Amino acid sequence: MNTLYNKHILLGITGSIAAYKSAELTRRLKELGADIRVVMTTSATRFITPLTLQALSGHPVNTDLLDTDAEAAMGHIELARWADLILVAPASADFLARLTAGRANDLLSAICLASYSPIAVAPAMNQGMWENKATQDNINTLQQRDIHFMGPGHGSQACGETGAGRMIEPEQIIARTLPLFTSGALSGKKIIITAGPTREAIDPVRYISNHSSGKMGFAIAEAAANAGADVTLVCGPTQLTAYPDSIQRIDVITASQMYQSVMDNLSDCDIFIASAAVADYRPGLQAVNKIKKQHDEMQLRLVKTPDILASVASQTDAPYTVGFAAETENVLEYARKKRQKKGIDMIVANKVGPTSGFNQDNNELDVIWQEGHIHLNLNSKKTLARDLIQIITEKINAIDTTQNTGLKTR
Ligand code: PMT
Repeated sequence: MNTLYNKHILLGITGSIAAYKSAELTRRLKELGADIRVVMTTSATRFITPLTLQALSGHPVNTDLLDTDAEAAMGHIELARWADLILVAPASADFLARLTAGRANDLLSAICLASYSPIAVAPAMNQGMWENKATQDNINTLQQRDIHFMGPGHGSQACGETGAGRMIEPEQIIARTLPLFTSGALSGKKIIITAGPTREAIDPVRYISNHSSGKMGFAIAEAAANAGADVTLVCGPTQLTAYPDSIQRIDVITASQMYQSVMDNLSDCDIFIASAAVADYRPGLQAVNKIKKQHDEMQLRLVKTPDILASVASQTDAPYTVGFAAETENVLEYARKKRQKKGIDMIVANKVGPTSGFNQDNNELDVIWQEGHIHLNLNSKKTLARDLIQIITEKINAIDTTQNTGLKTR
């Protein structure tokens, strides 16, 4: 089963005899469909060779913060942004101390410090080191920072002593990793998401469209499904595959088809998220045959497409509606106006620039609702999608609470 398909896991390996188990862990994570990048500390390379991990992960292993070649390929900040999860297994006592102190003196600690993604650690150390007050204080601090601890196990150790401190087995690590990608925060909620571009035909061979890849909308669909929602993804033409399999995908081409699909599925919908770049206009008439080149100038008569988002928002019993606004200038101002004009609950202002917006892996967003606004820094679309789903979940929960108590809603 490809349970971890499309998931980016950065596997950190630190200096411990348990490092040999990381080979099996890499193999199992790959088997489950995850894309694995391995980062090893210098001492880890004395227990197991980078070549082994390279062969198993299918990618070069990164070991050095100051390696210009490796940084040119995928630098430490890029790796930090790429990872959906940083899993450090084995995590030595020294690494936990560095993580606690917020050190960035080697590649793995620097990535952990720079990352916004969840971090999980599978400790491995001598039982005395584990029980030491210094280590226990570090663990308390890290747990307060929401670092996930997997183990350690208890039993006989490589040093001949017995006690707590063994790294748990790869299968146990996997069992604890899977739930990190899912939550029940939106279980029981039905969400419709639009994604990608639409195409409006001029004639049988030409169309009007835009550069939307669908990446943002597909990432939102994945985050919503991982939060337990029942997700319908209505998408324009895109090469992307939707994960997980529980997502109901409906492929459309034109704005009118997208409108129809959304309306057909709207009953009982709790949340509608319109991330698609829908064509605002379509040719008034589609030529039956290919239009021939004749004059120096040619005019196309365009007519407005149905506004899907505004239509959904205007329904009685409308779901919680979230729109997007991709803007190149006056981003916040234009987005706020759009939110009001379309009568929607929330708008996500999407700064379009050289590193964010259409057909990029990263994005930079401002989430705006009636009373507030949160800026989400440049980050991978997958991370931003998770943040957005979390923000929407909080809003929905607040509405549910206020409705139950009869207080003001939205
Ligand atoms: O797909 P990617 O390459 O990952 O790029 C993501 C994105 C940049 C396309 C996405 O993040 C984004 O910003 N989408 C909205 C694009 C836009 O500017 O839309 P708009 O300003 O034309 O429309 C505003 C809102 O109304 C959008 O939520 C849009 O989906 C919706 N709309 C617009 C027209 C229409 N006929 N029906 C609609 O529902």
